[in-house]
Amino acid sequence: MARKIVVTSALPYANGPIHIGHLVEYLQTDIWVRFQKLCGNTCYYFCADDTHGTPVMIRARQEGIAPEELINRMRREHLRDFIDFEIAFDNYYSTHSEENRLFSEMIYQKALENGAIHTADVEQAFCEHCQMWLPDRYIKGKCPRCKSPNQYGDSCDSCGAHYRPTELVDPYCSVCKNPPIRKNSTHYFFRLADFEPQLKDLVDRGYVQEAVRNKLDEWFQAGLRDWDISRDGPYFGFKIPGETDKYFYVWLDAPIGYMASCKNYCEKDGLDFEEVWGSNEYELYHFIGKDIMYFHALFWPALLICAGIKTANRLFVHGFLTVNGQKMSKTKGTFITAETYLRYLHPEYLRYYYACKLSAGVDDIDLNFDDFLQRVNSDLVGKFANLASRSGPMLTNKLQGRLGALDQEGRELINGLQAEKDAIVADFENLNYSSAIRRIVALADEANRYIDQKQPWTTIKSDPETTRTTLTAVINAVRILTIYLKPVVPVFAGKIETFLKVKPLTMTDVDAVLEEIEIGVFERLVERVEKEKVEAMVDESKENAAPQQSQMELDEPLAPECTFDDFAKVDLRIARVSRAEPVEGADKLLALELDLGALKKKVFAGIAKAYKPEELVGKMVVCVANLQPRKMRFGVSEGMILAAGPGNTDIFMLGVDAGAKPGQRVH
Ligand code: 2FM
Ligand code: ZN
Repeated sequence: MARKIVVTSALPYANGPIHIGHLVEYLQTDIWVRFQKLCGNTCYYFCADDTHGTPVMIRARQEGIAPEELINRMRREHLRDFIDFEIAFDNYYSTHSEENRLFSEMIYQKALENGAIHTADVEQAFCEHCQMWLPDRYIKGKCPRCKSPNQYGDSCDSCGAHYRPTELVDPYCSVCKNPPIRKNSTHYFFRLADFEPQLKDLVDRGYVQEAVRNKLDEWFQAGLRDWDISRDGPYFGFKIPGETDKYFYVWLDAPIGYMASCKNYCEKDGLDFEEVWGSNEYELYHFIGKDIMYFHALFWPALLICAGIKTANRLFVHGFLTVNGQKMSKTKGTFITAETYLRYLHPEYLRYYYACKLSAGVDDIDLNFDDFLQRVNSDLVGKFANLASRSGPMLTNKLQGRLGALDQEGRELINGLQAEKDAIVADFENLNYSSAIRRIVALADEANRYIDQKQPWTTIKSDPETTRTTLTAVINAVRILTIYLKPVVPVFAGKIETFLKVKPLTMTDVDAVLEEIEIGVFERLVERVEKEKVEAMVDESKENAAPQQSQMELDEPLAPECTFDDFAKVDLRIARVSRAEPVEGADKLLALELDLGALKKKVFAGIAKAYKPEELVGKMVVCVANLQPRKMRFGVSEGMILAAGPGNTDIFMLGVDAGAKPGQRVH
C-alpha cells in the first residue's frame, strides 16, 4: 500500500545566499522525496525561509532597509536557486507568516498552561551605540587565554579556548566596535529537563541514527538545562503575547515553520492539515545537518510533546561538506554559492556527485574537484549518456526509430538490471545513495559490455534486424537505468522519457519491457564537464570573497565615541603652506610653515614620503588650528594638517580650492 509521507529540510537562514554546503541537505532530501514519489508514495516536501533574529535585523540595518524587504528578497533568491537545482518543494514558505505566528503563540500558550515556562533575570551584553542586545557571536575581543585579538564571545579560533563572553579582554560590539555594557532583563525559559523521560523514549523508539544517539546520551548525562526562549527588543521576530518589547527567540519559531509551511500548503491545496499533521496517517521526517541536532532532537520534540502535537518519526542527520578535503573557504574560492555554480556548471553534475558520496551516516562528505570531474565524465557521461547516444541515433537514423523484440541474450541483460531493483530501492530508502549509485554504475557497465560485444555499428551494415534486436536490449537497459537514476538526475531522465515517447517513468516500470514500438528523436543528454569551467567557478568565488565595506573587519577597533560637542571644539582653518623643509633625522617628517592670514603656525607633518617640500609651497590645506602645541623631538608643533591614507607614499592631503582664503573657517 502506498505510504503517506511529509518531509522537511532545515529552513535556510534569510541573511545569506544558498551555497554548495547547504545543497548537500537540499539535494539529499530532494532525491529522497523524488524517490518516494517514483515508488508511488504520497510525499510532500515542505520548507521555508528562516527569517527572524539578530543577523537579519543587523543586515537589514546595514543595508538601510526594513527586515521585511530583506527577507522577501532573500526568499526570492533562495527559491530561484532551489528551482534551478531542481529541488522540488511542494511548498516553500516563510517563518514570518501569520500561520507561523499563530502556531508559535499556540505552542507557547500550551507550554504556559502546562507549567513549562518560567521567568528569570539574565545579565547580558548590550551595545548602547547600536541600541541592541548582543548575542555571544556579536561580541568580540581578546581571548582571555592567548590574548589573540578579534575573537568571538564563546571561543577562540586561535588557541581553541572556550569561555563566556564576560571573560573576553577588551570586549567590543562586532558591529560598531564600541565596548558593550552589561544589563539585566527578564527572560522566559522553557523547562527542557521536565521532558527528559519522553525525549529518551523517543530516542529509544529510533528517532535518530546511532551516532546521533550517542551524542544525545552525552547531553542527557550532562543534564538538560532550561532553554531561554525570549529576546528583548529591538529584535526582528514575533512578540510574546502579553509583552510589549519581548520576542520569541528565532529558534523557537523556526521549526514551527515546518508546520506553517504545511498549513499554508493545505489551505491552498484543499488538503486537511489535521489529517497531515494532527494524526498518524502521515509519516514525518526532518532532514537536518549535525550542527542543529540539539534543536531538533531536544528542544523541538520537547515543545511538541508539551503542546500535545506529534513528533517526527525520524530525524535524518547528515555531516558537513568539505571541498578538496578542507572547510569551504572564501580565500581559496571553495565557498561557492549556488548562483555562481550555476553560471558554470549543470546542476545535475552536482546532484549526481553528491549522490555518489552520500550515505546514511553523519560523516562529512568531500567534494573533490578531480573526483567530481572523473565521476561526472566517466560515469554520468561516459557510461549512462553514452549508452543512449550509442543506441538512440542509430535506431532513429538507420532503423526507422522502431524497437524490435528481445532475444535470449537481451532478456538476460534486462533480467540482470531488473533483479537489482529491490536492492537499489532499499539503498535509496535507507539513504545509502552511494551504494545505490555503485549498483547502478555496475549495471551500466554490464550494458556497455553488451553493446561492445555486439558491435551494432558493424552489424548495422550487414544485418540490420540483428542490430535492431541488440539496440532494443540497449534501449531497455537505458530505460531501466534512467528509472533508477531519476530521483538523482530528473532532467536527464525527462529527456530519455521524451526520446522513448513514454509517460513519466515510475519504479514499477522497471518490470516491464519495451518492444515493437516507435521511439522519438534522440537529443543529446549531457555534456562532459570541463576542468576550465570548474577553475573559472573557483576563481569567481575568490573574487566574490572580497567582503563588502560594511562587513569588513576594522584592523583596529574604533576609538570611544566622541560627542558632537567634542567635535565642534576642533577649529579647522584654511592655511597656505608658506614654507616646507625636510627635517634632519626624521625621514617621514616635513617642517611646514602655515599662513592663516592673521597668524602663522609651525607644524611637523608626517608626509615626507608622499610629498616633496617644493610641491607643497603655495598649496592650500586644511589645518587644525586650535590643537594644543605639542613638543616633539625636533621642535614644537603648533597644529596639524588634514591628510589621510595608510601611510608612507600613500598619504593624501585634503584638496582645497585655490581661491579659498587663508584663515577662513572650515565647517
Ligand atoms: O541552521 C540554520 O541555518 C537554521 N536556519 C535552520 C533552521 S531549521 C528549522 F528549525 F527551522
Ligand atoms: Zn554596536
